Amino acid sequence: MFEPSEKSGGIAYAIREVLVPARKLEKNGIKIIKMNIGDPIAYDFDTPHHIKEALYQAALDGYNGYAPSEGYEELREEIVKREKKRNGMGYDIDDICVTTGVTEALQMFLAAVLNAGDELLVPGPTYPPYNLITSFHGAKPVPYATIEEENWQPDVEDIRKKINRRTKAIIIINPNNPTGALYPPKVIKEILDLAAENNIIVVSDEIYDDIVFEGRHYSTASLAKDMPIITFNGFSKVYLVPGWRVGYAIFNNPNGELDKVKDAFFRIARARLCASSVAQRAMIAALRGSQQHIVEMVNKLRKRRDFAYKRINEINGLSTTKPQGAFYIFPKIETNKWKSDKEFVLDVLENAHVLFVHGSGFCPVYGKNHFRAVILPPLEVIEEAFNRVEEFMKRVIE
Ligand SMILES: Cc1ncc(COP(=O)(O)O)c(C=O)c1O
Repeated sequence: MFEPSEKSGGIAYAIREVLVPARKLEKNGIKIIKMNIGDPIAYDFDTPHHIKEALYQAALDGYNGYAPSEGYEELREEIVKREKKRNGMGYDIDDICVTTGVTEALQMFLAAVLNAGDELLVPGPTYPPYNLITSFHGAKPVPYATIEEENWQPDVEDIRKKINRRTKAIIIINPNNPTGALYPPKVIKEILDLAAENNIIVVSDEIYDDIVFEGRHYSTASLAKDMPIITFNGFSKVYLVPGWRVGYAIFNNPNGELDKVKDAFFRIARARLCASSVAQRAMIAALRGSQQHIVEMVNKLRKRRDFAYKRINEINGLSTTKPQGAFYIFPKIETNKWKSDKEFVLDVLENAHVLFVHGSGFCPVYGKNHFRAVILPPLEVIEEAFNRVEEFMKRVIE
């Protein structure tokens, strides 16, 4: 038997791993309601037609070779324009690198900055690859608290306590996966002040920036234009193309403090060749064309969010805050009938045939005793799912 690398041992992706027992049940003919994966295309959302056509047209037009490593100039120009219009930022196309989704951007960034023993401050709970890839590099993800009673806002005092000389960067995810929290400018500015005092790079993952139900999303970099900030964004969610794998990193580097990290990032970009050529061409059309689908998506999701929020809070043994953005809800399991949130999720799967993701998969400290549900399915599916969960809870608790 050949041995895999030691560092691969820590890679386990909770969101996809719960699919294994679900598939087993499906093989036995049992229909599972899947509330586990953040892919709108798996539900009743579809990629806008003009974006699909642009992909096909790109292939016909001959964009079938390798693209530039940093991305097509026209796409980076459109991203610069979006940043100007939406966030008042004055980026240059050389500040932007197009990647194979935000997931590749974060992999490249962490490869570019982390040495063994370094620490990365991550929101607790967080999008899991920030933890996994940090550990892969022999560095340590350090979760900072986000406060459920305050709609999962970051605990700035906790961040202050956890900064030390090994801290390389702090990750902000706004709106957040899995909590759906939207951060007001005040909180973001407090985090930025801490980062400035301690000379830490700020990374802001804004992949859900246009999926906001009330209030407004403030881009982190727009709140401190004079600071070194790296923004990650992408098309998977807002443009309904998660499988096409296009995202980008933007370097706000007004004083040149990010020069060396940026150089490393772009060297890594060249070593992995490029993001998909045709998908990049289609994203030019996505940014230039109608944005109407975003309004429709947000309206649909708001109704589903309202319903899920109300319904979950009616169930004995569960409670939840109200998400303000993204497409997740992160309820609390109020009883200790289960040894862990993972056992709860597996029990619900086995006995109610609804699939969630356990909260500890997003953070062993601040995610435990919770689970994540997507609010993407049509209302009647969400209704059926939580009816089943309610029945199940009644059987177990009463
Ligand atoms: C916060 C966050 N960042 C990044 C991603 C992945 O995005 P991409 O499809 O661009 O890799 C996700 C997907 O769920 C996410 O929730």
